[in-house]
Amino acid sequence: MQLIDGKQISAQVKERAAAETAKLSEQGVAVCLAVVIVGDDPASRIYVNNKKKACAFCGIRSEEYALPAETTEEELLALVEKLNADQAVNGILVQLPLPRQINEERVIAAIRPEKDVDAFHAVNVGKIMIGNYDFLPCTPAGCIELIDSTGVSIEGKRCVVIGRSNIVGKPMAMLLLHRNGTVTICHSRTKNLSEICREADILVAAVGKANFVTADMVKEGAVVIDVGMNRLDNGKLCGDVDFEAVSKVAGYLTPVPGGVGPMTIATLMQNTVKAAKIQNGIKD
Ligand code: GUN
Repeated sequence: MQLIDGKQISAQVKERAAAETAKLSEQGVAVCLAVVIVGDDPASRIYVNNKKKACAFCGIRSEEYALPAETTEEELLALVEKLNADQAVNGILVQLPLPRQINEERVIAAIRPEKDVDAFHAVNVGKIMIGNYDFLPCTPAGCIELIDSTGVSIEGKRCVVIGRSNIVGKPMAMLLLHRNGTVTICHSRTKNLSEICREADILVAAVGKANFVTADMVKEGAVVIDVGMNRLDNGKLCGDVDFEAVSKVAGYLTPVPGGVGPMTIATLMQNTVKAAKIQNGIKD
């Protein structure tokens, strides 16, 4: 089994984003990402800190808006409106999940699609579905980069995605389809899950359950991408894949941490640069 090094591959993507940011700076364009976090979820805090760090690496200015857990939906929507109108802000990222009293769908819908660097807005989701899009869905696009790094072609392959979330599962299936994979989406109601997974040349696990994917679910030599980020009782971070067992069967496997996570952030940097280019009428 070959380990897929997300840290190294994400560094290359960030280098490219940094080079583009430097070029934009010469043209008088300062790239800026607004990062909004509501409440004090420790995982969200780590993600936001990592996103700010990546911005600093890429020469992107980040503005953090840390709001208290009791923030109302109206207050958050007012902030989004302010950032929508701010010419200096190219991208708006509202870290999810949001506290219970705030409707995530309404907040995502309020972000101007041109600044929606997560590609969560229905307009951007629709563009992804059509296959003609400006912003890449961050985690799925990162997974595609990791698959490409193995040299295994997606075209014509059996691809199985476990999980059907709007953030990962659904857009992941679309990107694999755009690359001419034969795609199956599995979920909690899927019958014969193990059998279906075992047919996959490319298996993407986005379930949110530690050690969900066991060795008997993996085809010999398959590319296995682990999107999971599960915190165990002992504080250790682990993915959706039983790493020890699956590493004996898979051809390629991503570690957690150091696999998909850094790629999500690297794609976010790419999207933020793209947003700045579009807003300033700069062609590739
Ligand atoms: N929460 C978990 N993943 C993500 C992500 O990619 N973007 C945002 N904004 N929140 C998340």
